[in-house]
Amino acid sequence: MLFDLCPAALSDHATDLLVVALHTDEAPAIDIPAYAQCVQNGDFTGKAGTQLMIPAPAGLSAKRLLLVGLGEADKLSAKALDKAAKAIAGEAVKKGILRATLAPQATLDEGFMRQLGLHLGLGAYQYRETFGTKELPDASVLAKFDVPAHLNEAKTGHEIAQGANLTRELGNLPANTCTPTYLAAQAKQLDHANLNVEVLGEDEMRQLGMHSLLSVGHGSDEPSQLAVMRFNNGADEAPIALVGKGITFDTGGISIKPGAGMDEMKYDMCGAATVLGVMKAAVALDLPLNIVAVIACAENMPSGRATKPGDVVTSMSGQTIEILNTDAEGRLVLCDALTYVQQDKPSCIVDMATLTGACIIALGHHNTGLLGNDDELADQLLAAGQDAMDTAWRLPISEEYDKQLDSNFADMGNIGGRDAGTITAACFLSRFVNDTPWAHLDIAGTAWVSGKAKGATGRPVPLLMNWLLKRAG
Ligand code: BES
Ligand code: MN
Ligand code: ZN
Repeated sequence: MLFDLCPAALSDHATDLLVVALHTDEAPAIDIPAYAQCVQNGDFTGKAGTQLMIPAPAGLSAKRLLLVGLGEADKLSAKALDKAAKAIAGEAVKKGILRATLAPQATLDEGFMRQLGLHLGLGAYQYRETFGTKELPDASVLAKFDVPAHLNEAKTGHEIAQGANLTRELGNLPANTCTPTYLAAQAKQLDHANLNVEVLGEDEMRQLGMHSLLSVGHGSDEPSQLAVMRFNNGADEAPIALVGKGITFDTGGISIKPGAGMDEMKYDMCGAATVLGVMKAAVALDLPLNIVAVIACAENMPSGRATKPGDVVTSMSGQTIEILNTDAEGRLVLCDALTYVQQDKPSCIVDMATLTGACIIALGHHNTGLLGNDDELADQLLAAGQDAMDTAWRLPISEEYDKQLDSNFADMGNIGGRDAGTITAACFLSRFVNDTPWAHLDIAGTAWVSGKAKGATGRPVPLLMNWLLKRAG
């Protein structure tokens, strides 16, 4: 689909679909004869989530006119944009539209264009991989997205969506396809002259002393994997480090989870999938940055070889861990990945993980949990989340919480009791980051949705991409 922005003479602009996106009480910037009548009849109000399709509009060369409501101008919400983008994408798919044109409006700034490109891209995603005979809508008209050069921000948003769609696809794939080996191999699929990808197997990790990470996969027949992506595309500066939790299925291990809803633990690799989605978009946008990205991949299963509660392991950092609950496995893979990535002397580290059910209790499904040791980094990420309408909310960490991890038999336990579960999980990670500015994103509540529309969301790829784009200048 070619998506362009109409120049001045709207009435002469021949297009398959002319889109006019309007806030409440906002009149079109250019004369549209049908518009006044629609407003008068009460058929279009500009309210968020509303739309009106007018075939063969009088006085225009466009074949169709689509009015989309964005709600009040001062509170443009992700939801309103999502609905507007879905309306446009939906009509484009339904009518096989190859050329859509957006009428210019004062409020449609560059930020809006990025969000629109993002949501059009997200709207085009359809999970298909494991259907056998079911007929699915064909969204192929949306597969290609062309915009003229002056709409670069829409293109940027669309590239971010392609990254997020990779994150969603990997999340949605069942765990019998998306194994640690499969997930790590995805890193190799990313292609750029300045991207170097290395995959470490269990023997190499054992050599490095990553016994915490390896303990998680002990019970599984699937070998654990660590994929490292080094993107050297910036000036001569310390890299930004990204680390993702890639538990391709979390049964809980010997501390086994209850059966209801356990299928959703296939999503326990969404942190790693987010890292892959971000790297895909960063590479596609050729961001002038140095990034070192690590995904720690394992399957958490019970078996005769599985780690048992009370087992003590030595992490790559040399610190020992008493594994009191084998279901607190995310931190066990992350801690060794955090130690590993510090070998590259990063300027900061951001990790992301579906780490704690407690985060859903605290923040629900609206905000990603953000914790860390550096106010400036935390503020940057919070602001990027606001801009992307992919928001995060900060929770504290401090010594009092950290004490909850004390163990009688090792340097620390891997759980801190029932209270403040998201915070004690972050305290555990903080013991492995030393003085490097670090932020942790707990995406347990935001990486996927349950229920009828069950599926991965691609969050927090937009947050991270807005942050990286800002860092890139
Ligand atoms: N992957 C889960 C966290 C999770 C649970 C995410 C439900 C999304 C929905 C994680 O590995 C886990 O099991 N965490 C435990 C930690 C506890 C044993 C300290 C939890 O949250 O119950
Ligand atoms: Mn678990
Ligand atoms: Zn888990």
